[in-house]
Amino acid sequence: MNMNLVTDQIISDWRPYYPKLWGNQALRLSHNLAHSDLFSDAALAALIDRTPREAYHVNYSQKTPGNPPKRREGEIKDISGAEVLDVVRKGNIWVNLTAPAKTDPAYGDLLERLYAEFEERVPGFRSYKQNLTILISSPNVSVKYHSDVPGQSLWQVRGTKKVYVYPAQAPFISQPALEKLILGQLRETDMPFEPWFDDFAQVYDLEAGQMLHWPLNGPHRVVNHGMLNVSFTTEHWTDELRKHYAVNYANGVLRGKMGINKLSQQVTGPSYLTKLGLAGAVKFSPLNPQKKKVYTVDFRVDPNAPEGVRDIDAHVFEK
Ligand SMILES: [Fe+2]
Repeated sequence: MNMNLVTDQIISDWRPYYPKLWGNQALRLSHNLAHSDLFSDAALAALIDRTPREAYHVNYSQKTPGNPPKRREGEIKDISGAEVLDVVRKGNIWVNLTAPAKTDPAYGDLLERLYAEFEERVPGFRSYKQNLTILISSPNVSVKYHSDVPGQSLWQVRGTKKVYVYPAQAPFISQPALEKLILGQLRETDMPFEPWFDDFAQVYDLEAGQMLHWPLNGPHRVVNHGMLNVSFTTEHWTDELRKHYAVNYANGVLRGKMGINKLSQQVTGPSYLTKLGLAGAVKFSPLNPQKKKVYTVDFRVDPNAPEGVRDIDAHVFEK
């Protein structure tokens, strides 16, 4: 037996019954990336230095208990990656590098290895359109209640964050909200959060060296513990996820344009096939939902400003 097959595994606590849970229930696993050189201060600073404007977001939300208010969009200009990390450590910002694999292929290699491992371990799991994004965030920062469109996992590399995962069903996400999410029309106010939702959440203190994968479109929110956090997300599609996408896309169109309210979520049979055709006709590729998004940028990351955030005249950034 080749021992490397064992020692090179990224997930260190896989159990034989996990394939039954994968994608159906929230699943917390242990991984060996907590001390990876890819996420050291030096590596992240170098990555930020090389990241073009279209490949990052930096956000600010006022600190409040519970679900935070709407976040502001900012920019990184005239400071080094090392200085940005310093602001993250002492301030109140959230940096998302959306395409690190394009900047440094090492992150693409990691992404491939991760999915190869899951595809080897979960019979029938075949994924595509995978992506990895890196999150570097300040102590106690929160991410507002939301759902994501593709299959999602959150990998905690440094620090600890509290992750609340809610059932991917009404009332936590309503059918119209899910359709708007998929049509790319969901505004933050369309996904209302009530404090009592927490009574129905699965709550994890996700530590460095742990990852969490949850069911498709599962609403979640995140609160960092009191230290710098380094995490990454992985997202993917499968044929099954794509079918749900197509049917919800078509239902969203039918509901919006034709005012039809009773719509089936079936993913087999003639009604499903008609909807699949409609989704295809309405939009050529259902895997590329985003049109150009417009962001209003109104702050700059500044080591000398309170919370690391200096107001600037607002300007628009499109990508
Ligand atoms: Fe998310």
